[in-house]
Amino acid sequence: MTDTTVAPSTLAALLSSRFSCRAFLPDPVPEDVIVEILTMAQRTPSWCNTQPWQVAVTDGDATERFRAGLAEAVRTVSQAPDIEFPSGYHGVYRDRRKETALQLYASLGIAGDRQASAEQTMKNFDLFGAPHVAIVTTDAALGTYAAVDCGLYVNTFLLAAQSLGVATVPQAALAGCAPYVRDFFEIPDDRNVLCAISFGYPDLTHPANAFRTARADLDSVVTWVSH
Ligand SMILES: Cc1cc2nc3c(=O)[nH]c(=O)nc-3n(C[C@H](O)[C@H](O)[C@H](O)COP(=O)(O)O)c2cc1C
Repeated sequence: MTDTTVAPSTLAALLSSRFSCRAFLPDPVPEDVIVEILTMAQRTPSWCNTQPWQVAVTDGDATERFRAGLAEAVRTVSQAPDIEFPSGYHGVYRDRRKETALQLYASLGIAGDRQASAEQTMKNFDLFGAPHVAIVTTDAALGTYAAVDCGLYVNTFLLAAQSLGVATVPQAALAGCAPYVRDFFEIPDDRNVLCAISFGYPDLTHPANAFRTARADLDSVVTWVSH
């Protein structure tokens, strides 16, 4: 029998408390906690239960070697994601993107400062100081729906981590450095890099973590059909 008695407020609390963390403390997450996150993330649903995700997780020296190489790669190698990035954002998508970026820059006190904003963006490649990164890959041959499954996996990972007090930030930015990522983790040709998730304990005193993003009203998302 399925246990359906989990209090709905538990998920609501996780959804409202999770945020993308962009400043981490250096303290490592204990291995048993990482295993618990990964074990929970395995419960993610997928088409035909194919579970097309694979994940490479770093700690200690591996994170530092990856971080150092990434900083070099992003300076010297042009962007080459395995899965095509959006060519641009239009209309409401552009507005939401801009609003979120402005919130971050305002929180950091760098709104309108293009150089400081660019430097902040570069912190993606320092993993925002996180002690761990998880690289999520999808099976290339299974196509778009497998990428959807892997996206669901990413969200379960984020919420599982949040439930254990571990902060996260999903990062497509690192997918732009797919050649370096593929090489570092020896990812085979039949897999595509989807995104990274940097994780660790949050620096809650840092202004990058001091704002929360908004969401559109239901009215702009849902079409009710009753008859
Ligand atoms: C697939 C995906 C890729 C993302 N890539 C980045 C990224 O490269 N860098 C970054 O700082 N945030 C990234 N984010 C975080 C989003 O900006 C963030 O989820 C969004 O603004 C909503 O804010 P919240 O996570 O704090 O609720 C990504 C999120 C997702 C789901």
